[in-house]
Amino acid sequence: MKFFIDTANLDQIRQAQDLGILDGVTTNPSLMAKEGISGEAAVQAHYRAICDIVDGDVSAEVIATDFDGMIAEGQILADLHDNIVVKVPCTADGIKAVRWFTDHGIRTNCTLIFSAGQALLAAKAGATYVSPFIGRLDDISADGLNLIEQIRTIFDNYEFGTEILAASVRHTMHILECAELGADVMTGPLSAIMGLLKHPLTDAGLAQFLADHAKAAAEA
Ligand code: G3P
Repeated sequence: MKFFIDTANLDQIRQAQDLGILDGVTTNPSLMAKEGISGEAAVQAHYRAICDIVDGDVSAEVIATDFDGMIAEGQILADLHDNIVVKVPCTADGIKAVRWFTDHGIRTNCTLIFSAGQALLAAKAGATYVSPFIGRLDDISADGLNLIEQIRTIFDNYEFGTEILAASVRHTMHILECAELGADVMTGPLSAIMGLLKHPLTDAGLAQFLADHAKAAAEA
C-alpha cells in the first residue's frame, strides 16, 4: 500500500519524508489556500518545492471546470515536473479530460469520487488514480469504506490498471481498514500516519528495557 500525505504544508511533507515511508503527496485548492498559496506563479513554485522534497507522485489539481480549460491548465501542471499527476474533478468534462490526458501520456487523478459508478467511468477513461473520499461519506452517515470495497471488486473483475487512492482519510483506523480492503494508496494527514505508531505497550516496554539496562550498568 502506498502512503501519500494529503497536505500542501512543506514542513509536514518533510516530516513524513524523513520518516522514510512517503510515496507521494496529494493537494487540492483548499489545501493550497490553507497555506496561503495563491496566484499561478506561486502555485506552480509550490508544486515544484513539493516535488523537490518527495520522490513520488504529486497530485496537482486543475481549477478550470470546462474541458478546454482543464486541458490547458493540466498541460502546464504536467510540464512542471515528471512526478506531477493532474488532478481532475469527476464531472463529464473531467472524464473527457482524463481520456484526453491518458491519450497524450499525462497521468491523472480523478477526484471527488463518491460512487462506484464514478470510479468505473474514470477507470474506463484511463485514470491513473481514482480518489474516493471516504471521510466525507462518513460525515453524511454513508459508508466510505464500503465504497472502497465496491470499487476494489469492480476493478479486480475487469483488471483495470487504475489505482484506488483512498482519500479524505481522517484517522488511523481508516488507514488500516483501507489496507485490509486492498486500496492501492491512502492519502491522509500527518496525524493519521503518525497515529499508526502509537501503542502504550511499546512505550512501557521501551521504558522497562532502558531501566533494566541502566540498572545492570550501575551494578557492573
Ligand atoms: O484527499 C482529499 C482530501 O483533501 C479531502 O479531505 O478531510 O477535506 O475531506 P477532507
